[in-house]
Amino acid sequence: MPLLELERVLLTETEITTRVRELGEQITQDYRHLVDKEADEPNILAIGVMKGVVPFYADLCRAIDLPLAFDFISVSSYGKATSSIGAVKILKDLDASLENYHVLMVEDIVDTGLTLAYLKENFLRRKPLSFKIVTFLDKPDRREAPITADYNGFVIPDAFVVGYGMDCSECYRNLPYVAVVKSGENVGCKFTPYNKKTVF
Ligand code: PRP
Repeated sequence: MPLLELERVLLTETEITTRVRELGEQITQDYRHLVDKEADEPNILAIGVMKGVVPFYADLCRAIDLPLAFDFISVSSYGKATSSIGAVKILKDLDASLENYHVLMVEDIVDTGLTLAYLKENFLRRKPLSFKIVTFLDKPDRREAPITADYNGFVIPDAFVVGYGMDCSECYRNLPYVAVVKSGENVGCKFTPYNKKTVF
């Protein structure tokens, strides 16, 4: 399997943990007044966009001190988009209808913004009570669609990053930190050990 070498750690586990906790506290404050205390089920729905979001989603949701319902959507890009909202294929749609929910859409990274722009428009058509976006990473230098998240973990430079859910050919998703892949194509098909103590 061709694996790329990792150049450096961009975000450590500690930095990620601290920031995700801050985001959770902020969202808890902002959404507290929206909780329907009379309802039998949560009226706030956290929607994860699979698959890279999984670690962030799990950590963030546990840092939000409010009743949350979970749902997930799986999408794939059709490639280079021809419109400003991108061309996205829904592989697995939501289970829930959105009319009765305050929706918090959770992403791992906003890059061109095309996926987010498409999903935002798609979700808004389903008439949620409210709609906000939280992303772990924002890479504004690559933006093609004019979209921003309501909550941002970190703004990062235009570098190829892996870890904490993000992959290179499905690899490195389970790194507990975020690393930059060495620049230059195929700098090595050399395995980089997952144990950060031996990598850097
Ligand atoms: C990533 C990420 C976003 C999208 C952002 O998903 O999770 O959904 O790309 O890119 P954009 O802003 O350029 O549209 P990816 O297609 O890598 O799938 P994955 O989450 O399964 O890794």
